[in-house]
Amino acid sequence: MHPEHLSRLGLLFALGALAPVAAAMPSAPDLLKSPRPLVIAHRGYSGAAPENTLPSFSAALLAGADLVELDYRPTRDGALVVIHDATADRTTDARTRWGGARHRVADRTLAELRTLDAGRWFDARFAGAVLPDLGEALDLIAPAALPLIEHKAGDARTCVEFLRGRRLLNRVVVQSYDWSYLRDFHALAPEQVLGALGPVEHGDGLPPTGPDKLLGPAQLERLAAAGASIAVWNHANLGPDSVRAAHARGLRVWVYTVDDVATALRLLDLGVDGIITNHPPLLWKALALRAAR
Ligand code: G3P
Ligand code: CA
Repeated sequence: MHPEHLSRLGLLFALGALAPVAAAMPSAPDLLKSPRPLVIAHRGYSGAAPENTLPSFSAALLAGADLVELDYRPTRDGALVVIHDATADRTTDARTRWGGARHRVADRTLAELRTLDAGRWFDARFAGAVLPDLGEALDLIAPAALPLIEHKAGDARTCVEFLRGRRLLNRVVVQSYDWSYLRDFHALAPEQVLGALGPVEHGDGLPPTGPDKLLGPAQLERLAAAGASIAVWNHANLGPDSVRAAHARGLRVWVYTVDDVATALRLLDLGVDGIITNHPPLLWKALALRAAR
């Protein structure tokens, strides 16, 4: 699809053209009760459009994703901008526009960051895409899919107040690798569904190794204590009993990032509740193949 069409669609969504859909959107707790595994678009449909931009989110909605994942971090002036990396170097033209390298998002205002081109690095057809702020990204996604908001930096209170002010608590899922952020979030808004990303190190500052990487009883205990109800785990670090153990505790398991049908089928056989992918149509294919067995 031509990016201009995606951008126009994005504008239509932003203008509320799909407003009737909003009433039908399930809340986060209701979506977790889905009888089938959920299709989750990673940074939008980032296999087809520049990650974490409105065209990528529009493409994910067109691909029918149940949830659309994005990453946010605070700017120098306290805005919340949608971008994965700590610097703007990889996914914008910051180095050519500003010279040098290591252009940290935290050192720039939202207005400065929005002068950057966030589309051309992916494909010239996406030139002109800008870094969205969190509000406009949610305005686009929330009427048609559940946003999966990943915290990359900043405190929990800012995000809680942001979501509460827009009446979006539990109209989204919030996830983080930082489980102390999750604990803080849970204390401030215990009703919000949270996902704990892993594997992560715990206490010693070193990356997890060997069995610590597997989703097991110790991690399940810790993530539940942090207020999370979903383990969002690297798919390579699931053991044969991980999903069973999580379900026995009333927890869900989502896995990332899966971009091939064979791996998706293996994980579906393990009983995962959601799969995060850069190519949502491949997951629909895997689900259809599995249903036809
Ligand atoms: O949603 C899972 C995944 O997004 C976590 O890793 O680095 O892509 O943010 P990352
Ligand atoms: Ca992410």
